[in-house]
Amino acid sequence: MKIGVFDSGLGGLSVLHCAQKLIPNADYVYYADEKHVPYGEKKPEELKGFIKEIIQFMIDKNVDAIVIACNTATSMIDKSERKKYPIPIVGMEPAVKKAVDLYSNENKRILVAATPVTITGDKLKGLVEQVDRDNMTDLVALPGLVRYAEQGDFSSDGIITYLKEALKEYDLSNYGTVVLGCTHFNYFKPSFQKLFDQEVHFLDGNEGTIHQLLRVLPNKLEKKEKGTVEYYFSGDKLTEKEHSFVQQCLSQLDVVYSIN
Ligand code: DGL
Repeated sequence: MKIGVFDSGLGGLSVLHCAQKLIPNADYVYYADEKHVPYGEKKPEELKGFIKEIIQFMIDKNVDAIVIACNTATSMIDKSERKKYPIPIVGMEPAVKKAVDLYSNENKRILVAATPVTITGDKLKGLVEQVDRDNMTDLVALPGLVRYAEQGDFSSDGIITYLKEALKEYDLSNYGTVVLGCTHFNYFKPSFQKLFDQEVHFLDGNEGTIHQLLRVLPNKLEKKEKGTVEYYFSGDKLTEKEHSFVQQCLSQLDVVYSIN
């Protein structure tokens, strides 16, 4: 069983990390579109072109299923389009429904953070209209965090300064939940928490996405202990330096990102 996982960059490693925990015996192909990151600040037509190319790349690699480990990319390709491909393609969206279902009874607001493309897109607006009847959510774009993650900076003071500035219009004492609606943001839970005096819940779509993958996977998981991962940056194999950078990101996820 071979599973393709792709993102604009290093955020999707958090989805790969989760997939490896829940489906350890699969082999993975991870594709980071480093030539075109950040997706969250590009035009939809351009993004659609990149995504189609990556899906074809994965199909050529003979994967059995594809995970779009990127909320921004998912919002560019709807379910009916995904169904045109010969293999299952699973996407992800900000976990707004889960946040409302689990925590709206706490009477605290829900902050949904994502990229500008996701925040201004119709897909997220539609989702919020559908699930947030009591108007508990606020949406905020935090493109700067994608840049920090891509530089391998997960905890500098600059991140806190950036977040404080980006969130200065919000009274953070009113919030009980933060939805991490961009896979790059999973690196920054500790930085986010520092902004709040109260403990907040963090929600992302990773586990839900992998559970969905398990539902659609063809039934051919081999009985081996641990699968392999091949990494590509925009179609190219990684240099040694890039490979060790990816490993550094994965170890960071071991520290800040746990699955239940
Ligand atoms: N990681 C991506 C997401 O989940 C997008 C980051 C970017 O390239 O802007 O939305």
